[in-house]
Amino acid sequence: MLVKAVIPAAGLGTRFFPITKAQPKEMLPVYDRPTIEYVVKEAVDSGIDNILIITGRGKRAIEDHFDRSFELENTLIKGEKFDLIEELEASANMADIHYIRQKEQKGLGDAIFCARKFVGNEPFAVLLGDTITISETPCTKQLIKKYEEYKASIIAVEKVNKEKISSYGIVKVTPINDVYRIEDLVEKPSPEEAPSDLGIIGRYVLTPEIFECIRKTKPGVGGEIQLTDAIRLLKDIQAVYAYNFQGRRYDIGTKIDWLKSTIEIALNSEENGPELKKYLKELLNKV
Ligand code: G1P
Repeated sequence: MLVKAVIPAAGLGTRFFPITKAQPKEMLPVYDRPTIEYVVKEAVDSGIDNILIITGRGKRAIEDHFDRSFELENTLIKGEKFDLIEELEASANMADIHYIRQKEQKGLGDAIFCARKFVGNEPFAVLLGDTITISETPCTKQLIKKYEEYKASIIAVEKVNKEKISSYGIVKVTPINDVYRIEDLVEKPSPEEAPSDLGIIGRYVLTPEIFECIRKTKPGVGGEIQLTDAIRLLKDIQAVYAYNFQGRRYDIGTKIDWLKSTIEIALNSEENGPELKKYLKELLNKV
């Protein structure tokens, strides 16, 4: 049984400057809620209710979002706006959320290392705080199912276009049934060096041996401790699998995916979907 998830949310969000100068990229709204709320919901919908969010300086808004706000609640009670109170409390009651700060920007591997005491000696899920997935069965639930079959670390991948290969961790694999066995991994290779076009999307189930591997990992791309490099060590001591997950993922660290995810979620909303659809059709006829 997998009961713990780690959500790294300590990155600077440089691709979204100046929006992310004073607010965390994980708080960027996607339609009607902040990005990280979709990520926490994915963990909860996958059966996980014990979550550690790795934050850093300038990320206080994340903690405030998942907290109760007595000032707001009192004002709403006075105005008898009880439906809004329910809406406000919902995000505060989603799960048990713990926080720890990554004190220096030393990379994703280092951020995950901050979770070692929270995780202990159990397998755990990792969901990057700036990535949203949309699928019938939550992506993390799909990974947990595969973890239960194979009893080994497993990471979600998808095919990426050539021009995007250098933005992601890329895996070299051998197909086995409906998964792949990972032979090698390279963090952000050039398209020429890439061992395949299968990119890591930011959802992982990892065994606790990963912490020892992170400890041994030397700084890699960007001078940072990369999680991809630590998984490279892990695959030498135990099997690690990749799974082509069923669904769409949006990398909210990029402007285009942020726009696409907002449009998809808004189109599916009862309140604004039909009007937006009509508007987009009209707009596309004009441009
Ligand atoms: C991180 C990982 C990379 C992965 C990507 C998914 O990179 O290091 O392997 O493919 O997330 O979004 P980052 O986006 O933090 O640069």
